Amino acid sequence: MSEWIWINGEIIPMSEARIGVEDRGFQFADGVYEVIRLYNGRPFTLAEHLARLEKSCTGVQLPLPLDPLSLAAEIKKLVAKSDVRDGMVYLQVTRGVHKRNHRFPAEPRPTLLFYARTLPPPHLPGEGEGVKLLAVPDERWKRCWIKSIALLPNVLAKNEAAAAGYDEAVFVENGVVTECSSTNIFAVIGGKLVTHPVGSKVLPGITRAMLLERASSSGIEVDERRFTDEEAVRASELFVTSTTREVSWVARWNDRYIGQARCGPVTLALHRALCKKVLEETAS
Ligand code: PDD
Repeated sequence: MSEWIWINGEIIPMSEARIGVEDRGFQFADGVYEVIRLYNGRPFTLAEHLARLEKSCTGVQLPLPLDPLSLAAEIKKLVAKSDVRDGMVYLQVTRGVHKRNHRFPAEPRPTLLFYARTLPPPHLPGEGEGVKLLAVPDERWKRCWIKSIALLPNVLAKNEAAAAGYDEAVFVENGVVTECSSTNIFAVIGGKLVTHPVGSKVLPGITRAMLLERASSSGIEVDERRFTDEEAVRASELFVTSTTREVSWVARWNDRYIGQARCGPVTLALHRALCKKVLEETAS
């Protein structure tokens, strides 16, 4: 079965897609991206992802070649053509192909592309082994609210974690826990749900926002504040979130077990709330 890609207005087989050598995404990582979940063939929280994409584009002064409504329609066309039921859409927009020059081109010709891919089914709430986190220094830039394709610090951190037998790297800056290499992180401290505010050091995760809303509406007290690595290892629960990982409970932080070393009640309740929303929005 061939994979399809939407590239600059056309849907073509992935194997036929070509990007110019001087694409600024390739040479400067001059671009932004989104990862959107597909459940039952439907893009989940698509409007939220496209709103974040617009913000990322504004953040790097990159014109988005299509307005969000047209883009949503094109994404749905691509998904239908690809016939992916449970998976994701990867979308990226760069400043396009221009003679190499650090300065922005006077007339950008952005490259916009997206494709859909199947993912293995996510684990059910409370199941799985629990994520093992390796703490690493946060060496990223201060515009982490932009979903930039310049992910080398994240890639290096994830690989350092993997090489040491861990699943995910958690960034710590001067003792403060920010987020992970490709997920947001939450702690349950004194019964409250604590997570670092979004902004210079934390991506406004779509899953994060949804869970905070669900927590508040189900009576779980939310405290968006900076918290330390000392607090994290003593938390009764830790979990990480993303579009692809949904909610994943954390079993270990370096060599320390967290809480009861199993999925805790707040994590479980929030993961169930997410599954309920997925069902409500994507069941046919
Ligand atoms: N990553 N923080 C970082 C650094 C991320 O890269 C991601 C997502 C998140 C979670 O955001 P969301 O809930 O909107 O997916 C937080 C995607 C999935 C990726 O790069 O593959």
